[in-house]
Amino acid sequence: MKPKVLQYGRLMGSLEKQLVEAFDLTRLADQPDAKAFLAARGREFTGLATGGFADAALIESLPSLKVISSFGVGVDRIDLKAAAARGIPVGNTPDVLNDCVADLAIALMIDVARGIGASERYLRAGQWPKAPYPLQRRMSGKKLGIVGLGRIGHAIAKRALAFDMDIRYHNRRPVLDTSIAHEPSLHELARWCDFLLLMVPGGAATHHLVNDAVLDALGPEGYLINIARGSVVDEPALVRALKDKRIAGAALDVFEHEPQVPAELMALDNVVLVPHIGSATIETRGAMAQRVFDNLKSYFDTGKLVSQAT
Ligand code: 8YV
Repeated sequence: MKPKVLQYGRLMGSLEKQLVEAFDLTRLADQPDAKAFLAARGREFTGLATGGFADAALIESLPSLKVISSFGVGVDRIDLKAAAARGIPVGNTPDVLNDCVADLAIALMIDVARGIGASERYLRAGQWPKAPYPLQRRMSGKKLGIVGLGRIGHAIAKRALAFDMDIRYHNRRPVLDTSIAHEPSLHELARWCDFLLLMVPGGAATHHLVNDAVLDALGPEGYLINIARGSVVDEPALVRALKDKRIAGAALDVFEHEPQVPAELMALDNVVLVPHIGSATIETRGAMAQRVFDNLKSYFDTGKLVSQAT
């Protein structure tokens, strides 16, 4: 008998196809009343494949659950404690997305410093014949402060070195295997750098890490780059800092209430805004989907995940 797996949220078509072939798959989204369905049949499922969400209530509604496999490296919307309390391992999709997220980080830094998007809007609006686009700022050779030097942070640092950037990082605990200088104070890192790049996990521990004080430390020539989670930045504080030109600009892949983006941010020209596309390439999303499948398959075959979130 195939293991019974519940699918929560949308997953890529190719992944759903694989799941249907290997498991007895039920999509919660197909049930007219999800709550009633879980109450009546939640007990049947031993596996959960999710687009990134699994709170305590969902985990509780699946009393026979043995494994969770989540799409994405970030597990901030999964109640890891509730899962651990029942001994349920949570699979995620690390490593396969490092390169694409790091590529985007570099692209965002170049864009916000050089005004690629903004100058294109200028050209398309027919402004060029009237006056040349105002001079922008250089990225190569500048100071990069990485907040959260993990696997993706390292991939970003590797690229930034090719742009002759001077790099420091801030983690709660210093990383042992790196020659990049650790800055114990986030405030000091913000004061030192030209680009403050956020790559920390989301969740309570990093909620509103970047606030008015950090933005002021970054200062009027500093740029904030967020490819981590929207929750890491106090968004109203960021809007104020951008409006008052207390920082030079921001490039954001993630937002506090995405997919909603504050109209105030959209109205500003010193920000680059992209719709959470860090891992959104055909190659990387394909590899992530494969890992979601492999985690489930491996668990049911061997009792072990390929990659387990901690
Ligand atoms: C994805 C991400 O966009 O992996 C993550 O944690 O944030 C992104 O790669 C997301 O998980 C898919 O919806």
